[in-house]
Amino acid sequence: MIERIEQLQAQAEAEIAAAGSSHALEELRVRYLGRKAELPQMLRGVADLEPARRGEVGKAANQARQALERQIEERAAQLQGQELEAVLREDGVDVTLPGAPPEPIGGLHVLSATRRELEDIFLGLGFTIMEGPEVETVHYNFDALNHSPTHPARERSDTFYVADDLVLRTHTSPMQVRAMETHPPPLYIIIPGRVFRPDSDATHTPQFHQIEGLAVDEDITLADLKGTLLAFARAVFGEDRDVRLRPHFFPFTEPSVEVDVSCFHCGGKGFLGDGSRCYLCKGEGWLEVLGAGEVDPNLYSHVPSNELNAPGYDPEKVQGFAWGMGIERIAMLKHGIPDLRLNFENDLRFLEQLP
Ligand code: PHE
Repeated sequence: MIERIEQLQAQAEAEIAAAGSSHALEELRVRYLGRKAELPQMLRGVADLEPARRGEVGKAANQARQALERQIEERAAQLQGQELEAVLREDGVDVTLPGAPPEPIGGLHVLSATRRELEDIFLGLGFTIMEGPEVETVHYNFDALNHSPTHPARERSDTFYVADDLVLRTHTSPMQVRAMETHPPPLYIIIPGRVFRPDSDATHTPQFHQIEGLAVDEDITLADLKGTLLAFARAVFGEDRDVRLRPHFFPFTEPSVEVDVSCFHCGGKGFLGDGSRCYLCKGEGWLEVLGAGEVDPNLYSHVPSNELNAPGYDPEKVQGFAWGMGIERIAMLKHGIPDLRLNFENDLRFLEQLP
């Protein structure tokens, strides 16, 4: 029996040392030390032996069991360590790797970005921002702006009518009289907003955007208009720009001008370094950017004095200048956008090219 115990122990020891996994080791434990295994059964059978052999066999079997238990414990710790290391190696997370790239969150539409840029410039010059209704009365859109009853802009082919006396505003200028009705001079405001005209081609869309400017104060001259728009032109198109005023006509300004900015592509020369004609200004050296003028004094007669605008607008005391610029026009010049309609198609291939 002693021999058998030694044999079992040697066999178990060899197998334990060779066990390749915790799982295999657990099987060995059951096989050699489990309830039905040979060695424990021998231990249980010691009592049935003749008394003279009990001590010897019991001691040997017990020692063998303890030795195997210890060995299994040691081997188990070894295997667990190895297995943990393997798992860590495989599931390894390299915390120094950069994270997943963030989803693009988009940006402002070029027209919003341009509007904000323009607003910032005029806020910096001391103007405040007002907004007005997109559905406007004929009174504010035309009558109060000196349009004669037969002015062609009133035609249904040039203006969207909602009712006989109600239109989708064709420009932001109706806010001039509205603002003066509710605010006393001095007044320095800009009015950004949507405007509507029934045209549709590469350079016209039924909806577009303007920023109106209006300054009314004492001692305002055309020089103030020019200085203000020069500051705007340099802020948008670069410090070296110049502006020029060309005579024009609007019913509500007198004199009226069209304002050109020296071309930022050719530096105002009209031709490029290689002698070719500048495509942007078409060789002119100047880019038309907006319409403007001195507020026609007659406009003040459309502004009744009231408690909101007291002391009111006395044409003998106040003068003003006004301008209207197209946000699309500024954005298209600045970014080289070839077709107005691109602004409204929401095509990512277009939008992603803009800052
Ligand atoms: N409202 C004019 C237009 O839409 C522009 C303008 C505004 C001209 C203010 C003079 C003064 O064409």
